[in-house]
Amino acid sequence: MDREKQMESFHRKIKRVLFTQEEIQAAVQKAGKEISDSYDGNPILLVSILKGAYVFLADLSRAITVPSEIGFMCAKSYYKGTVSTGAVKITMDLDQDVSKYHVIIVEDIIDTGRTLNDVVNLLKTRNPLSLRVITLLDKPSRRKVDFKADVSLFTIPDHFVIGYGLDCGEYYRNLPYIAEYNKGAE
Ligand code: IMP
Ligand code: MG
Repeated sequence: MDREKQMESFHRKIKRVLFTQEEIQAAVQKAGKEISDSYDGNPILLVSILKGAYVFLADLSRAITVPSEIGFMCAKSYYKGTVSTGAVKITMDLDQDVSKYHVIIVEDIIDTGRTLNDVVNLLKTRNPLSLRVITLLDKPSRRKVDFKADVSLFTIPDHFVIGYGLDCGEYYRNLPYIAEYNKGAE
């Protein structure tokens, strides 16, 4: 396929912008301030589960003005039907000893809730000073396990979304806004 056709097909799948760059930045700055205000002298560890949250983490970490570190994990959860087997496979783990930190898990989107539910339970066994979850987006209508984030920047209906770190088939992560994906244009 030639360049023009590829580009046309790429853009056709971006249905509509749900949250602009400006709206996202305003919400991220507010969340960063709230985290900074909660600082009690112990370091904060922002934990991102790769890959979707990398853009949110980059912006949120720069909106925080108190001592904080970042860490990355790769995780996969195993389920029998809708029930978690409790087995979460960590393909890449944190370097840090979480018992020294207030841990904040930074997630891109909570859909069924399965991955985060298992990661939260795993990290709790490592005795962090505290553990909170902040998510950029939340799709509560899709939940398969009972899971609630402490902070959610935007709540959306059951739309498949792309941009600001979120992908479809690994593309569109680099869009500066969050958009609805146009399944009909595939
Ligand atoms: P779950 O909550 O365990 O189902 O997994 C959530 C993960 O699914 C997110 O971290 C995303 O990687 C992916 N995901 C869920 N909904 C969307 C979406 O609308 N767009 C892009 N990725 C999504
Ligand atoms: Mg993800």
